[in-house]
Amino acid sequence: MRRLSCLAVALVALVAACGDPAEPLNGWSGLGGSDGAPNTAAPLPWPVTEFPPLPKIAQDVPEARIRLGNLLFYDPILSVDRVTACATCHSEFWGMSDALPVAVGHGAGPLAGPGREGPNTLRRNSPALFNLAFRESLFWDGRSESLEAQAITPLLAEDELNLDPEIAIAELMAIPEYVELFAAAFPENPEVTVQNLASALAAFQRTMVSSRSLYDAYAGGQAATLSEELVEGMFLFAEMGCDDCHSPPLFESETFANRNVPASDGIIDEGRAEVTGLSEDIGRFRAPTLRNLFESEPYFHNGSVKRLEDAVRHELEQTGISFGEEDVRLIELFVRKGLRDDSRSADRPKTVPSGLPTPLDGPIFPGR
Ligand code: HEC
Ligand code: HEC
Repeated sequence: MRRLSCLAVALVALVAACGDPAEPLNGWSGLGGSDGAPNTAAPLPWPVTEFPPLPKIAQDVPEARIRLGNLLFYDPILSVDRVTACATCHSEFWGMSDALPVAVGHGAGPLAGPGREGPNTLRRNSPALFNLAFRESLFWDGRSESLEAQAITPLLAEDELNLDPEIAIAELMAIPEYVELFAAAFPENPEVTVQNLASALAAFQRTMVSSRSLYDAYAGGQAATLSEELVEGMFLFAEMGCDDCHSPPLFESETFANRNVPASDGIIDEGRAEVTGLSEDIGRFRAPTLRNLFESEPYFHNGSVKRLEDAVRHELEQTGISFGEEDVRLIELFVRKGLRDDSRSADRPKTVPSGLPTPLDGPIFPGR
C-alpha cells in the first residue's frame, strides 16, 4: 500500500526518490481506509494525497548538524552589525516571519518584529519558513533551487546581513565552541567552511515541517477533527479553484501567477520576470503555502494586505466567480485553523556561542 501510494506520488509529482520514513510525517496512521480506498466518513474535495516523505537529503541528518544550524540561525555573529540574525526576519514569535510588510535588514538595531525600522528596507515580505524540505524552488520569484545555495544569499545581500562569507568563517573560527560544533556536525569533513555553514543552516531549516494540522488528521480519516464549518470552508476553497495553485497536501505549488497585488509606492518588482526575462512573467510570483498563515501577517510578496481575511477576499476577487462575505469567512477559517501546525517551529537557543544577544522580540511581546 505504501509502495503503491509512493509510486502514485512519484508519478504525479515527479518525485524521484520515495523514502520510507519509520513513521508517517503527519503522525496519523495513514490515509483512507485500510484497503487504501478514500474514507467516505471524512470526504475530501480532492483526491487523497499523502503527505510526501522527507527527501533523502533530510533523512538521517546528524543531530549535531541540526543543532549547529539552529545556533547559527539565531546568532548575530553572521551579520555586519553583529546585531542582526536570520531570526531577525524569520522569528518563531511571528510564525517564522517578522510581522512587517517588508523586511528590514542590518543597521536597524536589535528590535525585531513590529516597529523595526532602518536604512536597509527590502522590497519583499519575509516568508515563513515551513516545509522548505519539500520545495523545488525558493523565494517569491523561485530564483533559488536549493537551501544550501540559498543559505549564503542573506549573508551576501547588502541590505540583509551584508557579511562576506569568508569573514564570517574567520569570525566563527575564532570561537572555540563553534570549531567544536562544526567538528561534531561534520565528522567526515570537520572544518569551519562556507559549505558546512550553508549545509548546517539548510539541515536545520528542513526540520520545520508542518504536517500535523487538523486538516492532516481529517485527511488521515479522523473525520471529527474538522468541524462542519471547517469542512464547508475546505469545500468552498476547492470550489473556488484555490487548490489549483495552493495544492494539497502542501497547499502551495510551483505555479507563478500574477494575482494583481497592489504595488508598493515607488517599488519596482517584476517578480518571476526578473528570473526568466520573459515579459509575460512580469508581476508573477510563486504560489506560497497557505499553511501556518495565522500569525505571519501581513500577506503577499510585498506585505500589502494586513489581515488574512482581506487576503482571502482579494484572492476570491481574482476568480471572477461571485461570492459573499460568508464564503470569505469560511475559507479564512479553513486556512487559519485547519492548516495550522507550528509544533515544529524553531526553538530559540537561550544563548549562542558568540555570546551576543539574539534579536529582541521575546522580551517585548511576552506571552506570545
Ligand atoms: C533582513 C531580513 C532577512 C534576514 C536577515 C534573512 N532573511 Fe531570509 N528572507 C527574507 C526575505 C525578505 C525573503 C524573501 C526574498 C525574496 O523572495 O526575494 C527571504 C527568503 C528566505 C528563504 C526562502 C523562503 C521561501 O519560502 O522561498 C529562506 C530559506 C531564508 N530566507 C532563510 C534565511 C536564512 C537562513 C537567513 C540567515 C542566514 C536569512 N533568511 C536571513 C528576509 C530575511
Ligand atoms: C493561479 C494560481 C492561484 C490561485 C488559483 C489562487 N492563488 Fe492564492 N496566491 C497565488 C500566488 C501566486 C500568491 C502570491 C501573490 C503575490 O504575493 O503577489 C498567492 C497568495 C495567496 C495568499 C497570501 C499568502 C501569503 O503568504 O502571503 C492567500 C491567503 C491566498 N493566496 C489564498 C488563496 C485563496 C483563498 C484562493 C482561492 C480563492 C487562491 N489563493 C487562489 C496563486 C494563486
